[in-house]
Amino acid sequence: MKRDFLAVTDFSKDEIYETFRIARQLKADVKNGKPHHYFANQTMSMVFAKPSLRTRVSFETGMVQFGGHALYLGPNDISIGKRESVKDIARVISRYNDWIMARLFDHEHMIEFAKYASVPVINGLTDYNHPCQIMADMLTIQEHRGTVEGQKVVFIGDGNNVCNSFLNFAAVVPYHFVLAAPEGYDPDPVTLERAKAAGLSTIEVVRDPIEAARNADVLYTDVWTSMGQEEERQKRLNDFKGFQINRELLSFAKSDALVMHCLPAHYGEEITEEVLDGPHSVVFDEAENRMHAQKAVMVMLANSSGAGINV
Ligand code: CP
Ligand code: NVA
Repeated sequence: MKRDFLAVTDFSKDEIYETFRIARQLKADVKNGKPHHYFANQTMSMVFAKPSLRTRVSFETGMVQFGGHALYLGPNDISIGKRESVKDIARVISRYNDWIMARLFDHEHMIEFAKYASVPVINGLTDYNHPCQIMADMLTIQEHRGTVEGQKVVFIGDGNNVCNSFLNFAAVVPYHFVLAAPEGYDPDPVTLERAKAAGLSTIEVVRDPIEAARNADVLYTDVWTSMGQEEERQKRLNDFKGFQINRELLSFAKSDALVMHCLPAHYGEEITEEVLDGPHSVVFDEAENRMHAQKAVMVMLANSSGAGINV
């Protein structure tokens, strides 16, 4: 049986910690020049309905480090749902490749993709969530602060796909998640309720960024206008005024707080260049960890199907 990674909640708490352990080992291997060709001669199709820098480069490079090869299929190559149906794309690719990574608009398409694919599907972002991002982010927090549990992570801005994945993480691993968002930009209500109902984490949604930032271990943000929302950009620029991570907001957080951003950043909007380039920022560790975390997810999925990879 193949296993997919479509949401953080696909993994148990133990599996998340095992993924982090594997990621740290794979990262050390890369730094020490120790090859780990666990997926020699395997191939991955990377299906992108939206643009990408990190997701594409980290998966493609990771696949080469595993001794395999990845193929990029851009928005104009296969025209998902227009030139060809999701289920046919999934069935065809499964006949060529050992892995599928997809970045799609509609999360329902991701679920359909996984249903019809006979090889593991990894979600590289949908309008609903971005699980690979959150695995990398939490790995980064664990690296810098020793643990994720009990950390106060404050997300300033839009209750978007990245925010939904933070909530999904909170349903599995206990920590303190606070979203400061303007009215009208709350996360997916079902995801919020499910995370609260899990009863593990402290979860707050507030309107005041300063109240949220007080005593934060991590200040996190993402773009105000996500991919696919470009026509709302002007309205969002107005609505998110005051929801910026800048020197002043940072002064309310703990003195050793981390500043994080999934990137791409829009300087002068959700974050100032000064803070992103400043001493609190771990933004490029976070970007690097995308690759190590995703490779670890792949090892976890393969081992669930009996690959027996011993990292
Ligand atoms: N953070 C992230 O997913 O970046 P890309 O959109 O460049 O892949
Ligand atoms: N919320 C952003 C994340 C980009 C990695 C978007 O969906 O565009």
